[in-house]
Amino acid sequence: MQISVNFQAIAYLVSAVLFVLALKGLTHPASARRGNYLGMAGMAIAIGATLFGSEVQSYGFILAGVVGGAVIGTILAMRIKMTDMPQLVAALHSFVGMAAVLVAIGTFLNKREADLLNGVLMGELSAGIIIGAITFSGSVIAFGKLQGIISGKPVRFMGQHAVNAAIAIAAVALGVHFALTESMTSLVLMTLLAFILGFTLIIPIGGADMPVIVSMLNSYSGWAAAATGFTLQNHLLIIVGALVGFSGAILSYIMCRAMNRSIWNVIFGGFGSESGDAPSAVGEAVEKGVKSAAIEDAVYWMEDANKVIIVPGYGMAVAQAQHAMKELMEQLEARDVPVKFAIHPVAGRMPGHMNVLLAEADIPYDNVLEMDEINPEFSTADVVLVVGANDVVNPAAKDDTSSPIYGMPILEAGKAKNVFVVKRSMRPGYSGVENLLYYQDNCSLIFGDAKDVAEGMVTTLKGGGH
Ligand code: TAP
Repeated sequence: MQISVNFQAIAYLVSAVLFVLALKGLTHPASARRGNYLGMAGMAIAIGATLFGSEVQSYGFILAGVVGGAVIGTILAMRIKMTDMPQLVAALHSFVGMAAVLVAIGTFLNKREADLLNGVLMGELSAGIIIGAITFSGSVIAFGKLQGIISGKPVRFMGQHAVNAAIAIAAVALGVHFALTESMTSLVLMTLLAFILGFTLIIPIGGADMPVIVSMLNSYSGWAAAATGFTLQNHLLIIVGALVGFSGAILSYIMCRAMNRSIWNVIFGGFGSESGDAPSAVGEAVEKGVKSAAIEDAVYWMEDANKVIIVPGYGMAVAQAQHAMKELMEQLEARDVPVKFAIHPVAGRMPGHMNVLLAEADIPYDNVLEMDEINPEFSTADVVLVVGANDVVNPAAKDDTSSPIYGMPILEAGKAKNVFVVKRSMRPGYSGVENLLYYQDNCSLIFGDAKDVAEGMVTTLKGGGH
C-alpha cells in the first residue's frame, strides 16, 4: 500500500501550509485553539503520507515506536502539572536533538556500506550531529535546572567564553575532517565535543534566565530537525524544522527584549551571569519593615476604586486561583469598578502562562493587557492587586544597578495609590532577589494562598463588603 512520490509531495505541501496556519493561530489566545487543531491536522496528514510512502522498510518497527511513544507521551502529558510544563518542553527538545544525532550516524553507517556517501551529504551529517548533540545535552541541563535536580545557580569558571569558543571550533574542525575523510575517530570526537558544548553553554545560565534558554533550545531543536530532513531528503522535515528554528529564535529575541538581555549572550552562553552576589540596596530596605493587611482592608479599597489592576504571577498558577480571580472580577464589575489584568511577558514559568490560565477561566481578552499597554495606567489606578507575582513587579530591576535583575522591564505596579500583594511568606520569587516593592509606603502584603485569599475577597464582597 504505497502512494506515489507526487501524491506524497502534495500531502506534505498541505501539511506545511497547515503548520504555517497553526503558527498564525497561536499568535492570539482567541485563535490558539484553532491553531492547535490545524497543527494536529497537518501532523496527521504528514504521518499518513510518510507511512504510505515508498521509503518505509518495516511497519513493525514503526508501530512499536508509535505505540510506545504514544503511551509514554499520553501518561506524561496527563500527569504533568501546568507549572512543570517548561521542564517537559526541555525534555522533549532533548529527544529531538538525540534523534537528529542517531539518524545522522545511522544514515552514515548505512550509506557507507552501500557506497552512497558524497561530500554534500557528509556536510549535512556533520551539521546534524553537532546541532543535535548540543540540543540534547543543553536540554538535559535545562531540564535538570528547571526540575531542581541541578542547582539553578549559574555555574561559572574563568575563561568560560574562550573555552566554549575553543570547543566549538574544535567540533567544527572535526566535522570538516569527518566530512572529507569519513574518519570514525573524527565522528566520535566531534559528537563528544558537541555534547560537552551543550553542557558548557547552558550550565552558566542562572535560573531566572531559563525561559529564554528553553525557547532558544526550541530553536536549536528545529535546526536539528531541519538537518535531519536534509539527511533523509524529506522536504516536510526541512520546512517544519525551519519553522520551529525561526519561530523559536524570534520568540527568544522577543523574550530577550522583555528581559533586557542580549540575544548574543544567550547564543554564546553565560548571559545574566554578571553581578549576582554584589551588595544591593535591599539590606537598607529591610530595615524599613513591611506592612501586612487583611482581606477586608483590600476589599475596602477595591469596592470603591476608580480602577483595579490585577497582576497575576507564578503563585496564581500554583494556587490555581484563576477561577476565583474571575469571580472577583465579576463582583467588582457588578459594583461598576473596572478590572484589568496586567501580563508581563515572563510572568509564570512559560511564555503565555498567564494568558492560558486567564483564558481557561473565561476572562475576556479585552480585560487582559500586555506590559506596554498597561504600564501607563498604573499611576492612575486606586488599587493594584498583585497575586503570586514577584520578580515582574520588583522595582529593583529599575532602581538597583547591583541587582541581578537590573534592566529587566517590569510592570509598574508600585505607582498605584494602593498596592496589595498576595503571597504566603517573605520568600523571594524565582530570581531569588528581594522585592523592594514590599517596602514602599503604599504597599501591604496579604499573607495566604492566592486562591484562598481571592475566594475570601469574593465572600466578603458578596456579604456586602468589608
Ligand atoms: P515569581 O517571581 O517566581 O514569584 C512567584 C511568587 O508567588 C512568589 O513570591 C511566591 O511567594 C508566590 N506564591 C507561590 N505559590 C503561591 C500560592 N499558592 N499562593 C500565593 N502566592 C504564591 O513569579 P513571577 O512574578 O510570575 O515571575 C516569573 C519569574 O520566573 C521570573 O523571574 C522569570 O524570569 C522566571 N521564569 C519565567 C519563565 C517564563 S517563560 N514565564 C520560565 C522560567 C522562569 P510565596 O512562596 O511567599 O508564596
